[in-house]
Amino acid sequence: MKTRIKDIAKALGVSPSTVSKALNNKPGVNPELRKKIIETAKQFGYEKDIFANYLKTRRTGIIGLIIPDVSNYFFGKLVLSIEKTLYEKGYRYVLFNTDENEEKEIEYLQTSLSYGVEGIITVTAARSNKRKLLNLYKKFPLSNKPVVFVDRVLESLGASYVILDNIGAAFEAVEYLYKHGHKKIGVIMGPKGVYTAEKRLEGFFKALDMLGLKCKEEWIIKGEFSINITEKSVTKVFRKTKDHPTALIAFNNLMAIGALEALNNLGLSVPDDVSIITFDDMPWHKFLKVSLTSISQPIEEMGILAASVLLSELENPESKKSRVVLKGQLVERSSVSNLTLQ
Ligand code: RIB
Repeated sequence: MKTRIKDIAKALGVSPSTVSKALNNKPGVNPELRKKIIETAKQFGYEKDIFANYLKTRRTGIIGLIIPDVSNYFFGKLVLSIEKTLYEKGYRYVLFNTDENEEKEIEYLQTSLSYGVEGIITVTAARSNKRKLLNLYKKFPLSNKPVVFVDRVLESLGASYVILDNIGAAFEAVEYLYKHGHKKIGVIMGPKGVYTAEKRLEGFFKALDMLGLKCKEEWIIKGEFSINITEKSVTKVFRKTKDHPTALIAFNNLMAIGALEALNNLGLSVPDDVSIITFDDMPWHKFLKVSLTSISQPIEEMGILAASVLLSELENPESKKSRVVLKGQLVERSSVSNLTLQ
């Protein structure tokens, strides 16, 4: 027979309403008793009837999580830290993978509303259809469902966000290359219009201007956050001219792999012919034949903070919006040559 709230209450000698508050993450239950109630519910195999609970409390305890590419280690790690933080507070999540596709994101936002999620944590794939996405995101706060952007932002929504200092990180990468004697620097930026690609490009040009450097149009390699597409676009650029950059900044981990593959196929050595710095320090970067100099993003901290901001807005809908900007860290390895020594 299914365990009910009153069975747990009887076993612990507390009222059913105390048990319900503890299981629905409501205030008014001391932490030790809450922990005991949750443990007893697990022992009894109690499963919240989400729909019965929704009819009574209008709360599902479910958060919508919108991610552009769960196959990318960066986002997988981000999901894990978000999940852990939500779980500790009794919330579950439903994950929507958009494949960096705005139309899918629109559909998933509509689904989230019909699923009755209590809030949204999102890495938006917005690039050219920002208006339609914005109009959909606006529906959430209108029904008291907080939205928190992580990694990327739709700024005009005015919602909370947790992001990297993309401009500062890209600026630092250019400065690092310049100090190593590189004046012909290109970027592998990924898709135009995507928040992180555009902000990193802004930081790139800000540093070029400050240093009095120029960048040829063809050295700004646009495309997708994809290994294969990047391999093709980097090959095309380097085949076209002998006057190629001496250094490339890849705006994400997948594109760095594509660039390495292209340069290898072209017989160009890293770092002797072309130096590389990439955003996203991955665990395998230090083990590569030429270990990759990377800009590490505080992924776990980003996820914990995004989930914590959402939870606090669930508890206090009137709370002030959070604008969290975290610093990247340049991890120096061996993929950048020092031309000043030559
Ligand atoms: O690899 C993931 C990183 O690259 C994220 O910052 C994402 O937005 C992309 O820019």
